[in-house]
Amino acid sequence: MYSDGASMTPPTLQAWGLTKSFGTGEVMTTALQDVNIELFPYQLALLMGPSGSGKSTLLAALSGLLRPDSGQVMALNQDLWAMTDKEREAFRLKNCGFIFQGYNLFPALTARQQLEMVLRWGQGASAREARLRADDILDLLGLTKKADLRPGQLSGGEKQRVAIGRALIKSPTLCFADEPTAALDWKHGEQVIELLRVAAHDNGATILVVGHDARLIPHVDRVLHLDDGVLVETSGKRRVPILNTPKAVVSGV
Ligand SMILES: Nc1ncnc2c1ncn2[C@@H]1O[C@H](COP(=O)(O)OP(=O)(O)OP(=O)(O)O)[C@@H](O)[C@H]1O
Ligand SMILES: [Mg+2]
Repeated sequence: MYSDGASMTPPTLQAWGLTKSFGTGEVMTTALQDVNIELFPYQLALLMGPSGSGKSTLLAALSGLLRPDSGQVMALNQDLWAMTDKEREAFRLKNCGFIFQGYNLFPALTARQQLEMVLRWGQGASAREARLRADDILDLLGLTKKADLRPGQLSGGEKQRVAIGRALIKSPTLCFADEPTAALDWKHGEQVIELLRVAAHDNGATILVVGHDARLIPHVDRVLHLDDGVLVETSGKRRVPILNTPKAVVSGV
């Protein structure tokens, strides 16, 4: 219960005083300056800001990929940077989905296999179950005809969609997407942001997506701005009401 009296969901991801610098002396870049942030389930938040403003660095610090110089990240009530590397890796495998600025696909695997392996090896799904879910997601992403192709045979936008499918197929509780729509035309970009919105609104995922395109704004619940490492502006709803009973985020996107 918050002070406004309404029953609200608590944040799933909180960070305080995050700072991160690269280099020393004259070549030092301060990528994050005392960033505080709260992210909520059932919410799709868009992080905007100029190139070099620290967006990817913030995603990396919040998702356990890059240790900040100072500050704290509480993810699902656990202190992310107080964990051992092994604990953090296990936490990320269990709870987090990532869509990177590059695609990070396995060159030798087909589009379908990239998705199937997440369920087969990450969640112990049967071959049949993995195949059905992978085909569902490929269909949603408009990739059914490309299911048997490898990354080298796919266009940039198609690779990006496979990477998105790979992040969403395990229905992550926390999902981080670094410019997932940058390589796509608007038709596919809109489909992708809608998929992320459904993952948040229907499955209760907490999603932070980096993007430049102002056309994304109407599709998201919240807009955050980074400027020179400073989180300068927040618009939209900080907190979301409990819309429905949070369900185990295990099926569908
Ligand atoms: N490994 C690194 N070594 C040195 N400097 C770095 C490193 N990673 C990031 N930086 C610097 O930190 C700043 C923020 O980088 P970051 O990648 O977070 O920006 P961004 O907002 O994601 O930019 P873009 O929109 O171009 O992806 C930049 O000035 C960048 O040069
Ligand atoms: Mg970036």
